[in-house]
Amino acid sequence: MEEITLAPATTDRPCAPPRGRVSKFLIPEVIFGIGTLAEVGGAIRRVGGRRPMLVSDPGVLGAGWVDRAVPHLADVRVEHRLWHGLTPNPKDVEVQSAFEAYLESECDALLAIGGGSCIDVAKAVAILSGNGGRILDYEGIDRATRPIPPMVMVPSTGGSGSDVSQFCVITDTARRFKVTIGGRALVPDISLTDPELLTTMSPELTAHTGLDALSHAIESSVSRACDFLCKGHALAAIEGIVEYLPVCVEDPYDLSAREAMARASLQAGLAFTNALLGATHAIAHQIGGALDLPHGLLNAILLPHVMRFNAETHPERYVDVAGALGVAVDGLNPSAAAEGATERVEDLSRSLGIPAGLHELGVDPADFDQFAQNALRDAYISTNPRPVSEDDVRRICLAAY
Ligand SMILES: [Fe+2]
Repeated sequence: MEEITLAPATTDRPCAPPRGRVSKFLIPEVIFGIGTLAEVGGAIRRVGGRRPMLVSDPGVLGAGWVDRAVPHLADVRVEHRLWHGLTPNPKDVEVQSAFEAYLESECDALLAIGGGSCIDVAKAVAILSGNGGRILDYEGIDRATRPIPPMVMVPSTGGSGSDVSQFCVITDTARRFKVTIGGRALVPDISLTDPELLTTMSPELTAHTGLDALSHAIESSVSRACDFLCKGHALAAIEGIVEYLPVCVEDPYDLSAREAMARASLQAGLAFTNALLGATHAIAHQIGGALDLPHGLLNAILLPHVMRFNAETHPERYVDVAGALGVAVDGLNPSAAAEGATERVEDLSRSLGIPAGLHELGVDPADFDQFAQNALRDAYISTNPRPVSEDDVRRICLAAY
């Protein structure tokens, strides 16, 4: 066989091309399809787990999905320890409690069956298992440096994207805001999506999580870190959400619409874990952490206002977003296309019953200064297409009020 020798990396060769932008794309093994919950036992075995902690929540338990999964674990002689002591917007104290249960049961892997909260707690337990300390010690990017146990994630909401992402978000209960923890170690080993799990979501949860996925798709599409590997996923996700989210809210048992939404949510997740997000999420994390409000609902209210803010300086980034949203962009200048995209998002939210402003959620404008200070510390603020100041955050919050 011919031996191939790579040229040494150097920039001083006379004909060396200029170094261009480098793209990387990090994702788990993805299993997707109706009925794939039956593969959960094999997935755990494949990553080396024999005694996983199964993280779920009361809603998913009540819907019967854990009962449906457990025989598939038993079939391959996997013994699990069930833990479900979490609330929406998972909190540092809940992570600590889950970690103690993990140690006590001598678990060796994490399996989450649930929404983003369950998946994020499972990731947080994995960090502590490999690295020790308290979960808030790991705020930021790549702070957990030691190996962590294998993770298999089974999403039940069609929204969070956490099953494929390199992030988890935990509420700091003392400082009352959400902390974003990121790093390549947090990419799950296997993401297993069975769209049937989405059929037991209420219309309200369907709308909130679906609009969270739309926020992921739009924010990642216009992100400073978006590249060709992310763009296609983001735009396909937008098209799918606009077409199928209203159908899912109208008829929760329409399995083909649920499958399309699960696919869109997955693609939005693939885009945002690599391109990251923007000011919508950076601000929503602060309000959600302070007032314990639904993440997707806050994103839905903030998103159009962040789009208008960004479009003042970067309208061109929204032209393909507008096209994916169904706006007839031919002949429109970028500003008109961006405004068309924003109005389309507002119309969709309104049709799904999203409140018009933050005032309807009990948010107090006196807290805007604090939200502004904290939002600038959020990991996602750096990839917003337009630089953001504290004044800008206050302005966006006031517009969304
Ligand atoms: Fe989100």
